[in-house]
Amino acid sequence: MSEARKILVTSALPYANGSIHLGHMLEYIQTDIWVRFQKMRGNQAVYVCADDAHGSAIMLRAEREGITSEQLIDGVRAEHMADFADFMVDFDNYHSTHSEENRELSSAIYLKLREAGHIATRPVTQYFDPEKQMFLADRFIKGTCPKCGTADQYGDNCEACGATYSPTELKDPKSAISGATPVLKESLHYFFKLPDFQQMLQQWTRSGTLQDSVANKLAEWLDAGLQEWDISRDAPYFGFEIPDAPGKYFYVWLDAPIGYMASFKNLCARRPELDFDAYWQQGSDAELYHFIGKDIVNFHALFWPAMLEGAGYRKPTALNVHGYLTVNGQKMSKSRGTFVKARTYLDHLDPEYLRYYYASKLGRGVDDLDLNLEDFVQKVNSDLVGKVVNIASRCAGFIHKGNNGLLVDANPAPELVEAFHSAAPSIAAAYEARDFGRAMREIMALADQANAWIADKAPWSLNKQEGKQDEVQAICALGVNLFRQLVIFLKPVLPKLAEAAEAFLNVAPLKWADHEQLLANHPLNPFNPLMTRIEPAKIEAMIEASKEDLAAANQPKGNGELTKDPLAAEINFDAFAAVDLRIALIEKCEFVEGADKLLRLSLDIGDEKRNVFSGIKSAYPDPSKLEGRLTLYVANLAPRKMKFGISEGMVLAAGPGGEEIYLLSPDSGAKPGQRVK
Ligand code: MSP
Ligand code: ZN
Repeated sequence: MSEARKILVTSALPYANGSIHLGHMLEYIQTDIWVRFQKMRGNQAVYVCADDAHGSAIMLRAEREGITSEQLIDGVRAEHMADFADFMVDFDNYHSTHSEENRELSSAIYLKLREAGHIATRPVTQYFDPEKQMFLADRFIKGTCPKCGTADQYGDNCEACGATYSPTELKDPKSAISGATPVLKESLHYFFKLPDFQQMLQQWTRSGTLQDSVANKLAEWLDAGLQEWDISRDAPYFGFEIPDAPGKYFYVWLDAPIGYMASFKNLCARRPELDFDAYWQQGSDAELYHFIGKDIVNFHALFWPAMLEGAGYRKPTALNVHGYLTVNGQKMSKSRGTFVKARTYLDHLDPEYLRYYYASKLGRGVDDLDLNLEDFVQKVNSDLVGKVVNIASRCAGFIHKGNNGLLVDANPAPELVEAFHSAAPSIAAAYEARDFGRAMREIMALADQANAWIADKAPWSLNKQEGKQDEVQAICALGVNLFRQLVIFLKPVLPKLAEAAEAFLNVAPLKWADHEQLLANHPLNPFNPLMTRIEPAKIEAMIEASKEDLAAANQPKGNGELTKDPLAAEINFDAFAAVDLRIALIEKCEFVEGADKLLRLSLDIGDEKRNVFSGIKSAYPDPSKLEGRLTLYVANLAPRKMKFGISEGMVLAAGPGGEEIYLLSPDSGAKPGQRVK
């Protein structure tokens, strides 16, 4: 093999204010597979990432939760790291953008850009919340659409008519944070002069660094002409203060990509063989790849290379852009239960199932990828359990029973061994090109050949015949060897299965080049089942649990939008009167088997009995205490089908969640069934 390549790889830094979900995992699994492949090939590959910890959304969420921003990001980072580790995403370093390395690098890069004349300042007039004493980003302003008059539209576009406008055109604007009417206020902003880099970007984006469709999209932006980029935000803001500009902070997207460098720098301090400059200086012979989703291309293909160039650093070798995850052909949906958090998946299913499924569907393009849950079950069960693991489980028993676990030296099908051997370069090329779908198809075609050959030789029949023992041992030895080859080829995708297989095979961690030899006269360890089939019931349970998450959640989305509006829209009296609010008597209250958060309530609402599932278990660990109590009940909410039965209506409670949920009660004298007005 030629000399080992130096390869630095990143995935986008997830926001530190939300949980990791299966959409995110598409990116981290994809990157991890590629890095593991490079490492197996003997390259010096380094995979770094970090939490993206800055911005007003994080500051506001911490405030709502009554903790500091630092406490919030520390907690979320720990959660993210546990999710990634359990999905076997093996970062060399997982840092935070709120780190000393990042503060220093961000300031240094900014100062270099300023010295080179790439920073401008000018006043900007923006909405300001007089109560909160802060400037409002577009998404924190609500008002009536100036075009169609629909109330409650956020920021700069109307969901009803699709119009786009400046937030100052909204009628009756309100701060979504405090509800106050915002005022216009002027402030000095700092800009990065992106147009200085127009020519460089025109070249760079056409130099093989981007997939064609991405380059074409960028050409549209480049042809339209680049604008200066506003990189400052006024206090209060959670981030780094700009040098020589008290009260001004770097916009989160300025220091986020620098977080890639900072995470690597932090790693260099621990790993003496890594030299920061050797990877980042101009003309470096190291390769640098960023894996990102299609939604953040402009930050990585325009701002980031321009910043690097302007500050005298090398630019990325390539961006690897992927599409978005859909589930069952649709956008992930909280109400359908297809917005599945990484942790919820892990509570129910083996991470390698998903790693394999994503791999089997990933190509080089930026198309969206569909997780079709039926296809997922079918494909994993048929490919991994039915084809790959099956080879070993068919052969291992005969070797243990018939030859004391010693695998003999035999090659009864040289043409098959040759087929495996000659497929390796093409499989490697598919991995290298991130065409994992093709790699998986080629590997499964080999597995089919191996299974067909074993079925044809039928060692289980031979084994019953006199004098066929040697033949049985030869067939099974080759079977195990072919299984070992498949494991080598699949190891970037299935590291845990590979580890279990290495234990069974009694070999050191497999590397790519190991496929060139076969095992012979080699003792095996006992065979334990390597992977079990997906039970469809587990999928259903995961979907139900995701619906439960929704019931229990009251969290801002990753991008800082609020899912529960703090400033509810006004409703007229008819809308209020349409809610059938009643007094209900809780006759029975009990745990629901298999549900972490739910209690089942049997309610007497006067003329009727109702059955309600409510996500209040965390606050009422002893459900019997609720029996005999009166509460408030919404009787005409559409019934909802859940795994455990149908939930009819909803009981009313206050509080932030967790242990702090307080079921509402009427004053004494109220009777079950009475209307609440
Ligand atoms: N914090 C920024 C990235 C800064 S990088 C210097 C961010 N964070 S994110 O949490 O919203 O997204 C992290 C990555 O996950 C992005 O590359 C994004 O495209 C990807 N995905 C988020 N949701 C996704 C899907 N539903 N499907 C596929 N990828 C998704 O953006
Ligand atoms: Zn409108």
